Amino acid sequence: LCPALNSLFLAKLWAVSSRSCSFLDSLRNEDIQPFSTVLTDSFGRHHNYLRISLTEKCNLRCQYCMPEKGVKLTPRSQLLSTSEVLTIARLFVQEGVDKIRLTGGEPLIRPDLLDIIIELRKLNGLKTIAVTTNGIHLAKPLSRLKEAGLDLINISLDSLVPAKFEFIVRRRGFHKVMEGIDKAIELGFTPVKINCVVMRGLNEDELLDFVRLTEKKPLEVRFIEYMPFDGNKWNFKKMVSYQEILDHIKQQWPNLEMIQTGCANTAKMFKVPGFEGHLGFITSMSEHFCGSCNRLRITADGNLKVCLFGNSEFSLRDALRSGASDEELLQVIGAAVGRKKKEHAGMFKISQMMNRPMILIGG
Ligand code: 5AD
Ligand code: SF4
Repeated sequence: LCPALNSLFLAKLWAVSSRSCSFLDSLRNEDIQPFSTVLTDSFGRHHNYLRISLTEKCNLRCQYCMPEKGVKLTPRSQLLSTSEVLTIARLFVQEGVDKIRLTGGEPLIRPDLLDIIIELRKLNGLKTIAVTTNGIHLAKPLSRLKEAGLDLINISLDSLVPAKFEFIVRRRGFHKVMEGIDKAIELGFTPVKINCVVMRGLNEDELLDFVRLTEKKPLEVRFIEYMPFDGNKWNFKKMVSYQEILDHIKQQWPNLEMIQTGCANTAKMFKVPGFEGHLGFITSMSEHFCGSCNRLRITADGNLKVCLFGNSEFSLRDALRSGASDEELLQVIGAAVGRKKKEHAGMFKISQMMNRPMILIGG
């Protein structure tokens, strides 16, 4: 191309790409091949991130996730088996998923977790394998999980005061979680992500202590806005917004720096200058990031859920068990992705909508 045409081309490319994160992301794919139509929705979003819930069970009872009266568990035979999880993962990776997060419930209580990670690691094209865990039983198996191919770890921690931690999760175990976090750092996971759901009257007074955790440790503390799910007694007053958390932190560290991140990143990232770790904010309620959403979810009972806050689901388990071929599965996945809505309905509508409790969706 002559220089003038070249710059015209680049200008056009920039104009298109600055309108669409997904387009820019697809250009970054090594081969510059078009992204799968199956995993592209009607708004052009490319879904390259799959979250698979491995179990509905959990050894904790976090107030924001698990309804007080517990949940009715799906019989074991109706949950995805190891090979069904792997079949689904393979199909999505073939179509362009390059990151899989294993969630729950608590994924570490599933006995085949190690085998699943070993098998996932063999999938060509899968760059990142992540796990979200409550950290209770993490310290011991972590080095084996890492050897098997685990790349990223998110650990839930909502209070640094043992008694309060135990009140929030309705169980004991604060010190075990801290041990798990230290082990993850020792093994070189970078960053180790800490999920902290901020709730007024419970842990909002600990925000600065959580920030201080990033001073000497390579942690990414992620403050998550409290989201409404069935049975978690969400109300607007209990939610502490991103802006409020940020203002509070800035009173202590006025020179807090914002860090630019890729467009599919759901977290707004910051750093206290001189501190080793980072801070992230997940603003699903006050500033949703639906426009750049790249994620799909599979529930432990095998339903494809295209939006965390939407109640439309499709049973991949039933399709698999009725002998559907890969082509037929891709067709139904494509149809479900195609129906994905532009954005969620807003926090007040969501709070009145029927959905699953978070424990049955997968955190
Ligand atoms: N609001 C925000 N985050 C939640 N999680 C679970 N329930 C909620 C909720 N109501 C997230 C937490 C936890 C992960 C398993 O799921 O980040 O660490
Ligand atoms: Fe268990 Fe995690 Fe839900 Fe807490 S948030 S009850 S640790 S699945």
